[in-house]
Amino acid sequence: MSELKSKIDLKKLPKHIAVIMDGNGRWAKQHGKPRVFGHKNGVRSVREISEGCAELGVEHLTLYAFSTENWGRPSLEVNALMALLVETIGKEMRTLNENNIRLKTIGDISNLPERSYKALLSGIEATKNNSRMDLVLALNYSSRWEIVQAIKTIAKDVKEGIISEQEITGDLVDNHLTTRGIPDPELLIRTSGEKRISNYLLWQIAYAELYFTDVFWPDFSKEHLYQAILDFQQRERRFGKTGEQVRK
Ligand code: FPP
Repeated sequence: MSELKSKIDLKKLPKHIAVIMDGNGRWAKQHGKPRVFGHKNGVRSVREISEGCAELGVEHLTLYAFSTENWGRPSLEVNALMALLVETIGKEMRTLNENNIRLKTIGDISNLPERSYKALLSGIEATKNNSRMDLVLALNYSSRWEIVQAIKTIAKDVKEGIISEQEITGDLVDNHLTTRGIPDPELLIRTSGEKRISNYLLWQIAYAELYFTDVFWPDFSKEHLYQAILDFQQRERRFGKTGEQVRK
């Protein structure tokens, strides 16, 4: 077993890890290749980190694969990312089932190209009874979009008398987000040296520990994952209380 892995306290594992997979383009540039080459190599890290999380016992892994803002990229790159998604789901379906991993998505996937949408639906259906870990892909996702959708639904329910204003609570908002049923991420990892949240799970990361690394996503390995988890386990999570209170 890797030395880092053996240091992880399995009783203090984050139940949900969210990742902003960043740096594919710069990694490709470093290798003198087009950006799409970086995304293709990023798939290897997706596989490696999914496997690493499942092996440890992480229950939910959410990956930011395509934001609503990513539509603004050159169409060649957008098309390549969509094709890569279809190809990857096709290739990885067996591994997901063999490893008892359930595929889920957050975001408005109905607005993805039809082939990608259908591939996702069939992947979700084929893995729906798996229970070891949820692999959640954020696709055509942005947190503000999600929050606006939730507000619209809640406002409509109040207007129609389905709920009263007093019934609007944090839990009710939780249940109107695309992550409903999934506990909040306890650890958020962003690769590539950028220190931004980029419209990702803004509501859900209220108390998440943030971990930034300079490693580009295609180079992010299980060892890097272990390092992030060990860092997380050294933090004192206070949830607004004092250090003395939480250490009692
Ligand atoms: C960010 O790097 C990466 C993305 C926007 C796409 C992530 C996609 C993959 C890893 C491959 C497909 C995923 C699945 C789940 C099959 P960037 O392009 O912004 O890099 P840069 O900041 O260096 O330009």
